[in-house]
Amino acid sequence: MNDQREQFRSKLGFILAAAGSAVGIGNLVGFPVNAAKSGGAAFLLVYAGFVIFICLPVMIAEMSLGRHTQRNPLGAYNAVSANSAVWKIGGWLAIITPFMIAVFYQVLTVWLLAYFVGAITGNLNAMAQPEYFSEFINSGSVFIYLAILTVIIGFVLNSGVQNGIERLAKVLMPSLLVMLLILTSFVLTLPNAMIGVKFYLIPDLAKITPSVISNALGQAFFSLSLGMGILITYGSYVAKRESITSGAKMVALVDTSVAFFAGLLILPAIFVFNPSIDTTELSTSSVSLVFTFLPKIFLSLQTTFGYFGANLFASVFFLLVFFAALTSQVSILQVPISAFQDELGFSRFKSVLSLGACAVLLVLASTVSFGMVAYFTEFTSYGGATKSFFDVVIDVFYDTILPLNGFIVCLFVIYKWRTSNFNSELKVGDDGFNGSFTQKYINFSLGTFIPVILLLVFLNTVCIKFFGFKSLFDIF
Ligand code: PHE
Repeated sequence: MNDQREQFRSKLGFILAAAGSAVGIGNLVGFPVNAAKSGGAAFLLVYAGFVIFICLPVMIAEMSLGRHTQRNPLGAYNAVSANSAVWKIGGWLAIITPFMIAVFYQVLTVWLLAYFVGAITGNLNAMAQPEYFSEFINSGSVFIYLAILTVIIGFVLNSGVQNGIERLAKVLMPSLLVMLLILTSFVLTLPNAMIGVKFYLIPDLAKITPSVISNALGQAFFSLSLGMGILITYGSYVAKRESITSGAKMVALVDTSVAFFAGLLILPAIFVFNPSIDTTELSTSSVSLVFTFLPKIFLSLQTTFGYFGANLFASVFFLLVFFAALTSQVSILQVPISAFQDELGFSRFKSVLSLGACAVLLVLASTVSFGMVAYFTEFTSYGGATKSFFDVVIDVFYDTILPLNGFIVCLFVIYKWRTSNFNSELKVGDDGFNGSFTQKYINFSLGTFIPVILLLVFLNTVCIKFFGFKSLFDIF
């Protein structure tokens, strides 16, 4: 056990690190694609509503549980429930889920790094060809990028919370925001960009269907890094002098603003490329948008800015998304690392090394599941489709277990730890909390409708993904 737990050096450091976790591929790509397909500003409004009224209370619950117990998620569940076997399940899920999400996220981050290198070396022409992506992900070079990325992440994590994670976020987050603003302002000056802006900002309420609403909630939950044990872990590094509620509000604000600006970058870029595009035809998958569609869009900029300009634009974009993914990846891996440090008494180095080795094996299994190795490519089948190892990891951990973890945290904080203890922790470092509207709202919502909604989302996903129903209500 560590005698002196590490802490974020400053409030800004904590906010940047937590925002670094939250801002990721989900904001920069997932959000714009969903907004494009689901009514623009109408989607944005539903999304923002979920962030404020559902996600923020869960975020506050996770952070305060971490700060109170000064532990990783497993330790936190054990400490509060006096090692109850039932609640331990929640703790284990909050360790295994982030580890497995890190596995699939690592695969995407490797591709982003490779696409950045591709663009900066002037390779956009090849990258915009339809077959490039599938050839690249099945080529030997992915392993080289994987090795480079693994070393970078291992180094940051081994440097610790203050010197690794906080320092990385302090450099990358401001650069990310600057790059995003530059790219967005630039795109907005291009011909036809305003068609995209109108499309984005004029709400089309007719597109809001039950499945869009459930997508918006899933998107917001993932985007804020909830249900992954990250905020419990990061909460454990927050000093007692800080206000958790104000930190959480800042993180949610930064995360949602980045998503908003990413929409203002990507949607107009799509319309610059093709002013009469039918956005319903865009694939829902962020992966195909980033790696096959966007290179085509970037290449089309060469008519105005030359081939060099197009490559430059693409490099900045891929670097931006890569930075966002890197800070998220570091945050998620810190969860099992802190569990190894706290629960097994491992040194930081030993934790990084042992978890890194397990992660690399699983990442390799995912990397070869796009055709290189048949066993992993046709790993299993359910819900009427053949699934690769990579698909299974996404379906089980990202799509299904996240809302379940959220549900468990709500019940745990309100009914096991109890509202009065939760409130006492939130009062620390926050004089105005007692009696505030925020207090009343989070106390009520976390004990009532938020867990109900999260449970319904979980059951709905299970029915759709694994049993081939159209929705939960199909059963009845
Ligand atoms: N919030 C991240 C995103 O939007 C999700 C995430 C966090 C994924 C941490 C992996 C690790 O992409």
